[in-house]
Amino acid sequence: MTSPAPQRTPPAPEELRYAFAGFATGITLVAALVDGRPVGMLANSFSSISLDPPLAALSFARTSTTWPVLRQAPQWGISVLAEHHQADIARLSRPATARFDGVTWNATDHGAVFLDQATTAFQVSVETEVDAGDHVLTLLRIHALHRSPDGAPLVFYGNRLHGLVTGRL
Ligand SMILES: Cc1cc2nc3c(=O)[nH]c(=O)nc-3n(C[C@H](O)[C@H](O)[C@H](O)COP(=O)(O)O)c2cc1C
Repeated sequence: MTSPAPQRTPPAPEELRYAFAGFATGITLVAALVDGRPVGMLANSFSSISLDPPLAALSFARTSTTWPVLRQAPQWGISVLAEHHQADIARLSRPATARFDGVTWNATDHGAVFLDQATTAFQVSVETEVDAGDHVLTLLRIHALHRSPDGAPLVFYGNRLHGLVTGRL
C-alpha cells in the first residue's frame, strides 16, 4: 500500500484532527479529589515517556474548564478504560458537575481518583508543564501503578470505540 502525498503544508486544524483520529489510542480518565469532590475528564493524549525515571505525558486543551481545577490537586489518578466501561464514556463526557454521577470510583489518601476495574491505573503528579500551542503538555511522574493482566481495553479510532484485535509483533 502506498501512502498518499501530503496535501498541504502546514495542515489546517480540521485536517490535523482527522489525521490524528487515524492513530488508534486507548482512553483514560484523569481525575482527582478537589475540595472533597471528584474532578476529571476523559483523555486519549496519554502516552508513555520514560521508564527511568518513570514518566508519562498528557496534553490538555487550553479551552478545558476542568484542567485548571484538576491542576490544584497534588496527585492525579489515570485509569485506562476497559471494554466494560463503554457506558461510562457517555457519563464522563457530561458537563463537569454531573460527570461522576452513576460512575463507580475510588480515591487514594493522596486524592488520586480511579475508575473501578480499570485495566491499568497510574498514580501521578505533575513534573513539568510545557506550552504547546492550543494545548498544555504535562509531564507526569508516576508514583504507583496497578495493571490487571487480563483486562480488555477500549480502543479509540476515527472518533469511535472499538475492541482489541490480538496479534503478534
Ligand atoms: C475519547 C476522548 C478523549 C479526549 N482526550 C482529551 C485530551 O487528551 N485532552 C483534552 O484536553 N481533552 C480531551 N477530551 C475532551 C475532554 O474529555 C472534555 O470533554 C473537555 O475537556 C471539555 O470538558 P471540560 O470543559 O470539563 O474540560 C477527550 C474527550 C474524549 C471523549
